[in-house]
Amino acid sequence: MKYLISAGPTREKIDPIRFLSNRSTGKMGYALAEAARDAGHEVVLVSGPVSLADPAGIEVVRVESAAEMAAAVESRAAAAEVVIMTAAVADYRPVRVLADKMKKGAGKLLLELERTEDILATLGRTKRPGQLLIGFAAETRDLLAYAEDKLRRKNLDWIVANDVAAPDRGIAADVNGVTMIPAVGAPLELPLQHKRQLATQIIAVIDRSRSRTTPAAGRSDNRPE
Ligand code: CTP
Repeated sequence: MKYLISAGPTREKIDPIRFLSNRSTGKMGYALAEAARDAGHEVVLVSGPVSLADPAGIEVVRVESAAEMAAAVESRAAAAEVVIMTAAVADYRPVRVLADKMKKGAGKLLLELERTEDILATLGRTKRPGQLLIGFAAETRDLLAYAEDKLRRKNLDWIVANDVAAPDRGIAADVNGVTMIPAVGAPLELPLQHKRQLATQIIAVIDRSRSRTTPAAGRSDNRPE
């Protein structure tokens, strides 16, 4: 199957040397890409700026901003049977990008921000029959309630609920534990473990759910015979 996976943070420019970003390192997304490859799938990885090397046997598309990630993901989504948005996409970007370095003044600085496109919501609206769409919800409180809300609002098949309040797991850590919530059915808890191992389990769950929705092997839609 064709997997499209996004990973890492995005950077939203303020001026030629400054940007807004977040602590995502791309480890979870890269681990998922490697696990999907090792399960025998064809993988395209759209990556924000991270310090990880390109994994072998995977097509890597490097982007910087949320707008670049939107263009890279959306132009490739139709060809994919499974799309996983692991990237920590910026929700806001500066309204104006300065051509020259910003100089400091005496008082406070107010930075005006505007919303970026919600890529996952766009994919949820344009999802084709048989395609599986998976999102991540990184939360510091009310994990399952917020995750379920995102699952429904963005028309996803699965959401991976990720508690990032504990400092020993999640963003930037080597280990993670998650709850996978399906659109239909019971949530599945995957305990704290190395991200690469966890990724193998997540891909196995997705592959199993895909084989249940597409009885005929190799079919790219779920219409009845
Ligand atoms: N996402 C996206 N495009 C964005 C922002 C997020 O595709 N502009 C995706 C992420 O890759 C992730 C999921 O949406 O799979 C996260 O859901 P979201 O509701 O955007 O979470 P937050 O960005 O944490 O926003 P908030 O909790 O403020 O609603």
